Amino acid sequence: MISVAIDGPAGSGKSTISKIIAQKLGFVHLDTGALYRAIAYFIDKNNVDFNNENEVKKCLKFVDLKIEKSGAEQKILLGGKVLSSELRSLNITKIASRIASYRCVREYLLNFQRDFAEKQNVVMDGRDIGTVVLPNASVKIFITASPEVRAGRRLEQMSKSGEKPDYNEILDAIKKRDYEDTHRVIAPLKKADDAAVIDNSNMNLNQTVESVLSIIKERVESI
Ligand code: CDP
Ligand code: CDP
Repeated sequence: MISVAIDGPAGSGKSTISKIIAQKLGFVHLDTGALYRAIAYFIDKNNVDFNNENEVKKCLKFVDLKIEKSGAEQKILLGGKVLSSELRSLNITKIASRIASYRCVREYLLNFQRDFAEKQNVVMDGRDIGTVVLPNASVKIFITASPEVRAGRRLEQMSKSGEKPDYNEILDAIKKRDYEDTHRVIAPLKKADDAAVIDNSNMNLNQTVESVLSIIKERVESI
């Protein structure tokens, strides 16, 4: 199976780019951040104390997480219910960030993600795909951009969905998230030694997609 691992900080464009690349190549895209968010959603719905790692560990036994293909996209199902925009709330973002630091959660999702990549050609995006989840991925790409540019992108995304966000607040949140992601003890955000780096601070979406595609074609002869 061919696997493309795309890692990088929040707002670098990983999910948007991975989705487009997967469509172009006929691969399946998995946004691994959404898996952490789905577990956070389960914890929230069941009133589990997300600051208590032991409680979180106990409740994982009851998590029924599935991915189903729906056209070119993936649906995340929790207990048979499709989850999408509810995973993006501020509350779920906060819980996801906390529980992503727990070993039990990372181990649970590690197996889930590896199983997924064994069954089909995938483009997986996250923080630790090239370093931990798929250390033998066919292609590894680390996408980044300056915090200011990434905050500007989030501002635009949020404004489009009717919110009135403050740029400085978003920038602070991005910097905080970068710190948490890179300083986590288990599976921190880090470029894999053999990953190609794309800094897309001064690139538009099309340019980034083209750049990712050309790296994939260079590294995988059959594409
Ligand atoms: O998944 P991640 O948090 O890395 O980022 P995303 O949600 O996929 O992308 C954030 C926003 O940046 C999206 O609206 C993309 O269309 C946009 N973007 C961009 O404007 N220029 C790029 N070169 C890459 C992404
Ligand atoms: O787009 P944004 O950065 O806001 O979040 P996300 O990519 O949807 O990830 C949700 C949470 O899961 C974040 O706190 C990430 O640090 C974490 N995560 C992780 O620890 N490992 C991954 N492979 C993917 C996400």
